[in-house]
Amino acid sequence: MKVLITGGLGYIGQVLQEELKKAGIEYEILDNDIYNLHKDIPSEKRLDLLDKDSIEDSVKNCDVVVNLAAIVGDPACLVDTRYAIEVNCVGTRNLVELTNKYNKRIIHASTCSVYGAEKENKKLIESSTPFPIDFYGQTKYQQERIVRDLIENRENYCIFRLGTAYGLSPRMRYDLVINTFAAKAANGEKLSVFGGTQYRPFVHIRDISRAIIYAIEHNLSGIYNLANENITIKDLAFLIKDLTDVTIEIIDEIEDPRNYIADNTKLMNSGFMFEWSIKKGVKDILESDTVKNYKDAKYSDLDLMKRVKENGN
Ligand SMILES: NC(=O)c1ccc[n+]([C@@H]2O[C@H](COP(=O)([O-])OP(=O)(O)OC[C@H]3O[C@@H](n4cnc5c(N)ncnc54)[C@H](O)[C@@H]3O)[C@@H](O)[C@H]2O)c1
Repeated sequence: MKVLITGGLGYIGQVLQEELKKAGIEYEILDNDIYNLHKDIPSEKRLDLLDKDSIEDSVKNCDVVVNLAAIVGDPACLVDTRYAIEVNCVGTRNLVELTNKYNKRIIHASTCSVYGAEKENKKLIESSTPFPIDFYGQTKYQQERIVRDLIENRENYCIFRLGTAYGLSPRMRYDLVINTFAAKAANGEKLSVFGGTQYRPFVHIRDISRAIIYAIEHNLSGIYNLANENITIKDLAFLIKDLTDVTIEIIDEIEDPRNYIADNTKLMNSGFMFEWSIKKGVKDILESDTVKNYKDAKYSDLDLMKRVKENGN
C-alpha cells in the first residue's frame, strides 16, 4: 500500500506523514512548496498539481491519493483569486483525471465552509444543501463537484468535509481560530470576539489524519463531515479563559458570518472514534515552543501568500 499526499508539506500533511509512519504505511509527497518554507528541496522535487505531466508518474505509482494541496482560507485565496481558482479547481481536475486513468482511489479534503451560514442552527448532514458564502468555500465546493462529477468509479472517492482544524504541527499555522486564541492567551493578550454567536465545527489535526487512514483501511467512499465539537466562537473564548484566565472582549460587529453545525453521525456510524478534544489541543499549544512567536509571517497562509505574490511568483 502506497499513499500519495498532495500538499503533504502543509499543516495537516506533515501530521498525516507522522501518523502514516506510525501505522507502517508507505507514502510519497507531492507538493510544490508554494510558500518556500523548505529551501533544501530541489526544484525537480517541487511538483505542482498544475503541471499535469510532471505529476503523472506519482499518481501511477501509488494506490491511494490524499488530496490536501490547495490555497487555504478566504484571506489567502483573496490575494489572487484567479490563482486560487487555478490551484483549487484546475489542480484537482488534473488529479482526478489521472486517478481515473490509473483507477486509483482519492481521499479529498473539503471543508464544512461549503455549508455557508445556516440561520436556524440546524445540524447539517452530508446531504444538506451546500451554500458557501465566501470565495474559498466556493472554490472548495467546486473541488467537491469536480471529484464527484468526473470520477468514473463511484467507489473510488471519499470526501471529508473538515471542521476548522487545530493542534500542533511541524508546519504550524496560527491563523486558525483555536490556534490563534490559544496563542494570544499564552502571550497575555486579550481575546477579541466579533459577534461570537456563530457556531463552528472543530477537529484536531491528529484526528483528521487518523480519519484519513481509517478511510484508507476501511475503503470508505462518499462524503463525510469530519469534526467532533461544534461550539460558538464565544464559548470557545470562555473555554480558553477557563484554562488561562485570559481577558475576553466581545465586539458586536460580526466579521465572519459563517455559521454551521456539522453532524458527524455518518462517520461515527462507520466505526471511527475521535481521540482529541479542544481542551487537550489547547493545552498542547499553550506549552509549545512556537507559541511565543505566533505572529511570525511563516505561521499565516495570508502573510505567506502575500510574500509569494510580492516576490513575483
Ligand atoms: N486547516 C484547516 O482548518 C482546514 C479546514 C478544512 C479543510 N482544509 C483543507 O485541508 C487541506 C490542507 O490544509 P492545510 O491547513 O494543511 O493547508 P496548508 O496551506 O498548510 O497546506 C497546503 C499545502 O498545499 C501545497 N500546495 C499549494 N498549491 C500547490 C500546488 N499547485 N501543487 C502542489 N502543492 C501545492 C502547499 O505548498 C502546502 O504545503 C486543504 O485542502 C484545505 O482546504 C483545511
